[in-house]
Amino acid sequence: MLNKITVVGAGNVGATAAQRLAEQELARAVVLVDVIEGVPQGKALDQWESAPIEGFDTRVVGANDYGPAAGSELVVVTAGIARKPGMSRDDLVRTNADIVKQVSQEIKRHCPNAIVVLVSNPLDVMCWVTKQVTGFPRERVFGMAGVLDTARYRAFLAEALDVSVEDVQAMVLGGHGDTMVPLISYTTVSGVPVTQLLDRSTLDKIVERTRNGGAEIVAFLKTGSAYYAPSAAVVQMVAAIARDKKRVLPCAAWLEGEYGLSGIYCGVPCKLGRKGLEQILEVKLAAEEQAALKKSADAVKETMAAVKL
Ligand code: APR
Repeated sequence: MLNKITVVGAGNVGATAAQRLAEQELARAVVLVDVIEGVPQGKALDQWESAPIEGFDTRVVGANDYGPAAGSELVVVTAGIARKPGMSRDDLVRTNADIVKQVSQEIKRHCPNAIVVLVSNPLDVMCWVTKQVTGFPRERVFGMAGVLDTARYRAFLAEALDVSVEDVQAMVLGGHGDTMVPLISYTTVSGVPVTQLLDRSTLDKIVERTRNGGAEIVAFLKTGSAYYAPSAAVVQMVAAIARDKKRVLPCAAWLEGEYGLSGIYCGVPCKLGRKGLEQILEVKLAAEEQAALKKSADAVKETMAAVKL
C-alpha cells in the first residue's frame, strides 16, 4: 500500500479511478484535484462516505490546489477535455497539452519523487509533455492506453469465442489511436494461438473494432468518452506498482532505441513494479507488425510536432 496517490482531473475517468483506487485500498489517502471549485471536494466526500459500506479505510479528499497532494508517491493525470463526437484524439492536442503542461509543473513542485501515469489524450504526446516539463526519468513517466486497448480486444475475442475473458491473453502495442497494433501472433486462449480458433476475417473484424473502440463509445454517449474501462485500466497499472507485482502490461513508454524507435512515447510491453516502469520487454514481431508499429510511431511524431512547449 502506498501512502498517497493523487488523481488530477475529477471528471469521469479521474473520479471513477479514485473510487476504484480507494475500494482496492491501494493507498492510505487518495487526493482528487480539479480546477472546478467544489467538484473534487464533493466527489471525494461522497466516495469517502461509501467507505463504511464498501469496507475501505483509504481516505479520499478533494482539492483545487496541490497542497493536499504534496509528497504523493504516485500521480494519475486525467485532466483535460474529453473527445466529442467526430473529434479525433489529435484534435485535442493543443488544448490538452496546455492543461497537462500546467499540471506537470505542479507535480514537479509538489510531488518531485512521484511516478506519473498519464491518461489524458492524445496519450503518447501528453506523456512527452510531462516528461519534458518535469524532467523525470522514463521510469517515472508513462501512460495508460495499451491495457485499455487490450481489454477491449480481449472482451471482443471472449465474446466471439464464448469463453471467459480471463482466459484470453493478448497485447496491443503502438500509439493510442487508429494506428494501434494488436498482436495477433501473441494472442492466445489459455496458451492456444487464437489463429487456431478463429478465422482470419473474424480476427480482422475484431482488430478493426478494437481500433475504433473509443469512437464506438463516444458515438453512444455523445457528450463524453469512455471511462469505466479506462479507469479500470489505469488502476490495474497502479495496483501493479503499489503492490510491486512486476506485472507485464502494455504501457506508453519513452523509447530509446527499443523496437528501432527513439525520441517518442509508444505502447510496448513493460514490467511495472514499485520503481515504476522497471523494464521494457523487446519481443520479436512479425514483419507486418513491426511495420505497423513504425507507422503508429510516425503518427505520434506528427502529433508531437503540433505541440510547442
Ligand atoms: N487541472 C486539473 N483539472 C483540470 C484541468 C487542470 N488544469 N483542466 C481541466 N481539468 C479537469 C476538468 O475540470 C474535468 O473535471 O479535467 C476533468 C476532465 O474530466 P472529463 O471532462 O469528465 O473527461 P474524462 O472523460 O474524465 O477524460 C479525461 O482522459 O481518456 C482521457 O480523452 C480523455 O483526455 C481525456 C481525459
